Amino acid sequence: MIRFDDVTKTYMRGQRPAVENLDIEFARGEFVFLVGASGSGKSTLMRMVLKEVNPTRGTVYVAGKDLSRIPSWKVPSLRRDIGMVFQDFRLLPSKTAYQNIEFALAVIGTPRKVVRRLVPEMLEMVGLEDKGKRMPHELSGGEQQRVAIARAYVNRPSILLADEPTGNLDPSTAGGILDLLAEINERGTTVVMATHDRAAVDRMQRRVVEMVGGQVVRDEAEGTYETHAPVSVISGHLPDDSAHRDEHPLEDEGLAERWEGVPAERSPVEGERAAAGETAAADDIAAPAAAAGDVLEEDLIDEREAQQVRDEDLFTDEAFSDDAFSPEPFPETPLPEQSEGERR
Ligand SMILES: Nc1ncnc2c1ncn2[C@@H]1O[C@H](COP(=O)(O)OP(=O)(O)OP(=O)(O)O)[C@@H](O)[C@H]1O
Ligand SMILES: [Mg+2]
Repeated sequence: MIRFDDVTKTYMRGQRPAVENLDIEFARGEFVFLVGASGSGKSTLMRMVLKEVNPTRGTVYVAGKDLSRIPSWKVPSLRRDIGMVFQDFRLLPSKTAYQNIEFALAVIGTPRKVVRRLVPEMLEMVGLEDKGKRMPHELSGGEQQRVAIARAYVNRPSILLADEPTGNLDPSTAGGILDLLAEINERGTTVVMATHDRAAVDRMQRRVVEMVGGQVVRDEAEGTYETHAPVSVISGHLPDDSAHRDEHPLEDEGLAERWEGVPAERSPVEGERAAAGETAAADDIAAPAAAAGDVLEEDLIDEREAQQVRDEDLFTDEAFSDDAFSPEPFPETPLPEQSEGERR
């Protein structure tokens, strides 16, 4: 569904890359958490999927399409099939909740009759059926985020990118937002969520991709916010300083941390990390990663190629043509109870 092939993004010459040698794939229907310290490249990765940012080197594929070969006039139809949710909601402040959702349909020329059915349906899905007339400033943060999710999902995109969607919310409200994203994922949309929300990641037990300094250092199928060794790195390149890990004998340092009161259930790696105030330390997890990476990488490449063929079958040039309306190219996410005639 989404594939990064040795992608590097450097925003400014002379600066270090925001994303470096990224080799990763997100499969159709997956729910993926992107974690990593501030500045590790999570938002940059997402913006490349939307083609808001172009890679300096390497190739990004969405549904089998090389984004560098999509002309600018086709970019809107690419984005039509990708919903986006932000930490700060980004609703149109002078429109009601209803109108915010309606707007997403209006800009792609959806017939009024379909709009009148879909908007209430979406308001109901996000639990705001009685608040359609409220302005954004009359809604709580959690409610605003629900509207934003409804707006992002109303076109039934095949991909939903959520950049810290729970960052401004209290834990229980955040939990509700997460449930909503999980429901959208269950309906077939691929969800990629960048987050610092430990509770969200730990609760969901989905795939976790951890970035450090623009590189993937961890990729676990059912991961948690912090790593539990042994770590499986199944894609991405390890940071260069991994070669110096022998300078830090982990066992000894881990023991020292425990003596100083780091809870015993933490792994030595986590203890060290917590003591250093870091969310991730690449050299900690490089050692067990390399071997696992070698084995799994081959399987992944096979699967990747198979997926690519499947994607290309489904995703013809027509899908990016100007009059294409999602989700036709993605038969697994149909609009329920909607006839072909209505949609046009
Ligand atoms: N438009 C830009 N111009 C120049 N540098 C940028 C730009 N956007 C991001 N960067 C730099 O790229 C690096 C990665 O930033 P990015 O926003 O992708 O990180 P992030 O993981 O999303 O962080 P956060 O958790 O704080 O949102 C940072 O060093 C940042 O300063
Ligand atoms: Mg970010």
